[in-house]
Amino acid sequence: MTDETNLIAWSLEEVAERHGDPTQAVYERLFAQSPEMAELFVGDKTGAARGEMLAVVFQTLLDFSGAGAFGANMIRAEIVNHENLGVPPKVFVTFFRTVMETLRELLGSDWTPPVAAAWDEMLAGLDAAIHREAAV
Ligand code: HEM
Repeated sequence: MTDETNLIAWSLEEVAERHGDPTQAVYERLFAQSPEMAELFVGDKTGAARGEMLAVVFQTLLDFSGAGAFGANMIRAEIVNHENLGVPPKVFVTFFRTVMETLRELLGSDWTPPVAAAWDEMLAGLDAAIHREAAV
């Protein structure tokens, strides 16, 4: 049962229920906006890494939107791990925004002002965490 007060969790569950796995939609949007990011994933022939990564991103966002410390630690760790993959820290800001925009499009009129506000607040918190970690 969804925690009705966590609109981030609500939006992720609602998208999954109504549209299934949003992996393809997220990466299509990312690559349309930032074609150079597609090159980072050339090794991921089957799309398995993209799917696995987005699943971990969702867990991270769910935790970050709640009380947990896992989300912030995860971001810190992944910024370091991803530098080895050629992903600069500022790309994390882009990616989280792309996730939000994809869900917003999929939810249409159910993307209500309170849902939008919850995402805006979380994105601001994520941006701050990324800036703390790296001079973006
Ligand atoms: C909190 C944010 C992120 C988390 C938790 C995360 C997590 C992960 C995980 C778990 C993998 C390994 C997937 C697997 O091989 O099964 C992965 C791979 C990867 N991630 Fe991320 N990631 C994050 C952000 C980003 C961003 C912003 C980018 C840039 C668009 C990115 C690009 C990549 C690439 C290029 C790979 C390697 C794909 C391959 O194996 O070819 N990640 N990520």
